[in-house]
Amino acid sequence: MLLEDASALGLDCVILAESAQDSAATTASNVIVGSPKDQMALDTLAAAVDVITFDHEIVDLELLAALEARGTSIAPSTSALLHAVDKAAMRLALADRQLPMPRFAVLAPGEALEDPGLGWPLVVKAARGGYDGRGVFVAADLAEATGIVQALHAEGVSALLEEQVAIRAELASLVCRSSSGEIRAWPVVETAQVDGVCREVLIPGSVSDRYRAEGEALARTIAEELDVVGVLAVELFITGEGLVINELAMRPHNSGHWTQDGSVTSQFENHLRAVAGLPLGSTKTTAPFVASVNVFGGAEQRSPHASLAEALSVEGAHVHLYGKAPRQGRKLGHVTVAGSDPEHVRRAAWHGALALGTPLPDALRMGAL
Ligand SMILES: Nc1ncnc2c1ncn2[C@@H]1O[C@H](COP(=O)(O)OP(=O)(O)OP(=O)(O)O)[C@@H](O)[C@H]1O
Ligand SMILES: [Mg+2]
Repeated sequence: MLLEDASALGLDCVILAESAQDSAATTASNVIVGSPKDQMALDTLAAAVDVITFDHEIVDLELLAALEARGTSIAPSTSALLHAVDKAAMRLALADRQLPMPRFAVLAPGEALEDPGLGWPLVVKAARGGYDGRGVFVAADLAEATGIVQALHAEGVSALLEEQVAIRAELASLVCRSSSGEIRAWPVVETAQVDGVCREVLIPGSVSDRYRAEGEALARTIAEELDVVGVLAVELFITGEGLVINELAMRPHNSGHWTQDGSVTSQFENHLRAVAGLPLGSTKTTAPFVASVNVFGGAEQRSPHASLAEALSVEGAHVHLYGKAPRQGRKLGHVTVAGSDPEHVRRAAWHGALALGTPLPDALRMGAL
């Protein structure tokens, strides 16, 4: 999706992809096949480009920092990116700045777990390497938590322990910051996660003016404090005590896919503008209401393309498919609808996603869908 906007701006991109079959690799004209954790592959990439940026954070920060020290331009810089790669580093840095978060503790490999006093059940997270809920565990008691912590430590990963907060709603605040310090913010959105995975994004959803303002202010503060260049997504929980920060991403984020079809400038375009040192574009919405629903593979593993015509017959549906092989539970694309009626856009986006084979999660109360 970054490549689509890079093409429109005439920016040449070179992709470092793990496999020639990766969605980005099949779209890009310049592909290096290799691991983002491989020194040689990174050196080849660095020699071919003016600036390196990211679309995921499963990277080797130490290798990247060495490249940076030798003069390669990396955006966001590795010192900013640390806080998206490492949830423990993120918690410690934001705690230093007194930003609202769940109570937490960090256990590095070698440190033994005692009752951290955060209540039970306890949320235990891999500090690095998790995504889509992988790396997030809920432990009922000290024995279960100890087992999870030991397994993480055996892989050399620190454990982040968090109180399990009672979540009233999940929000995401998305901003983009340019290298000159200009910040543009999209409206704060409501997201719905099932089993730790984002299923739908609603703009504005149930986000009140108060949380919209607070969420935007938090993201602006974090972007400045951590010197982020590019898109910053701040995942937030509404709790009984107000907003708390869940985690950060420093790249185009699932909660911002709707911007392709509901904002003057998409998160992908603004990310590219930021890392290329260009002025940012307007983040205004193009309609009062937008809904974006993720397309997932179902049990029968049929390709969403088999029913593309059905999805495209939903009036106003923008279909984005990632070209991934269908597998149960795998995110294969998203459908976005913008319009003037919140119920209509949500229903239409779901109709598109369901037509493409997405199973309807029981956990989402969809009413008369
Ligand atoms: N402290 C907590 N208390 C209650 N629920 C939590 C807590 N932390 C995480 N969760 C739940 O687990 C989900 C996934 O957590 P988190 O975002 O840390 O994991 P992730 O694997 O990095 O997610 P993703 O890559 O999908 O954003 C959250 O969206 C939330 O629903
Ligand atoms: Mg998350």
